Amino acid sequence: MRLPSKVKMVEVGPRDGLQNEPGTVPTKVKIELIHRLGDAGLPVIESGSFVWAKWVPQMADSTEVLAAITRKPGVSYPVLTPNMKGLEAAIAAGADEVAVFGAASETFSRKNINCSVAESLDRFATVSEAARAHGVRVRGYVSCVLGCPYEGEIEPAAVARVVERLLAMGCYEISLGDTIGVGTPGKAQTLVDAVSRVAPVTKLAAHFHDTYGQALANILAVLERGVTVIDSSVAGLGGCPYAQGASGNVASEDVLFMLDGLGVETGIDLDPLADAGWFICDALGREPASKVSQAMAARRSS
Ligand code: HMG
Ligand code: MG
Repeated sequence: MRLPSKVKMVEVGPRDGLQNEPGTVPTKVKIELIHRLGDAGLPVIESGSFVWAKWVPQMADSTEVLAAITRKPGVSYPVLTPNMKGLEAAIAAGADEVAVFGAASETFSRKNINCSVAESLDRFATVSEAARAHGVRVRGYVSCVLGCPYEGEIEPAAVARVVERLLAMGCYEISLGDTIGVGTPGKAQTLVDAVSRVAPVTKLAAHFHDTYGQALANILAVLERGVTVIDSSVAGLGGCPYAQGASGNVASEDVLFMLDGLGVETGIDLDPLADAGWFICDALGREPASKVSQAMAARRSS
C-alpha cells in the first residue's frame, strides 16, 4: 500500500456535525467544542455557516461564535458562505477563511441553495473574488459526488466539471462530498482518477459520510490515490438538512485511529479529541457514534 506520510484532517463537526441538530445547541457549548478541538491539534475547524437562518436555524449564532473563540496560531476556522450576503456577514464577523458549496447534481443544488449548478458557480465566482480581495481564503465543496438522494448515480465527469470551475475561480482546495454516504472504495478511486485529470490531487479533500459504513474504506482508497486532506466530524456528528438519509460524517476519532495505526502523521492527539466528542455528546444527550470512542470508554471502565 502506498500512502502519504502526512494527512491534514479538516474538522467539520461544529458546522456539518451540528447544523442538522433539532435542539438549539447553546453558543457557549459550540465555543467550548471549538476550543477543545483546537487543543487536540486539529489544524482546521469549520466553525459555522452564514446561511439563511430560516433554513438552518442551528447556525444562526455563527457571528457570536466567531467573535468569542480564542484562535490558536496556525489554526483556521472556516465558515460556509453561499452568496455575497453570507460573505459580507462572515467578513464582518472576522472570518479568516470561507467555503462555497456547490453540487454535482442539479436537483440537490436547487434543494440546498435554491439555484442551478451554473447559477451557483457564477455566484461563487463573485464570492471568491470578493473574499480573496479581503485576504480571505476560499475552499470549495462539491456535494453528491458519489450519488444524489434525488438523481441517483452521478457521473465523475459532472463532478470534474464543477471542480474545474471552483479551481479556476481561486478555491485553494476542493472537498469532494459523498453527502449521502453511498460511495464504495472502487467508485471513490474512479472518481479521484477522473477529477485528477482536471485538478492536482494535492488540492483535493475527501468528505465522506458513513451512512452505509463505507467511510473508512473509502478514505483508505483515496489515500492510496494520493489524497492528503480528509474531512471528518468529531463523534460522527452530522447529516445534511437537504439530503434525507445522510447520516453522520465519518468520525474524526475513527479516522485518526486508522491514520495513527498506519503511521500517517496528523499532529492530532486522540485522547483530547475523544474527550471533545464526549463533551459535545453529553450536551446533546447521546453517545458518540465513533466506535473508537466507545471502545476507549469501555476499556477505561473495565
Ligand atoms: P434563497 O431563498 O434563494 O435566497 O436562498 P434569497 O436571496 O432569495 O433570500 C431569501 C431570504 O434569505 C432573504 O431573507 C435573505 O435576506 C436571506 P428575507 O429578506 O426574506 O428575510 N438570505 C440570507 N440570510 C442569511 N445569510 C445569507 C443569506 N442569503 C439570503 N447568506 C440561500 C438561498 C443560499 C440563502 C439558502 O438556500 C440557504 O441558506 N441555504 C443553506 C443551505 C445549507 O446551509 N445547507 C447545508 C450546508 S451544505 C452541506 O452540508 C454539504 C457539505 O457538508 C458537503 C457534503 O456533505 O457533501 C458542504
Ligand atoms: Mg457534509
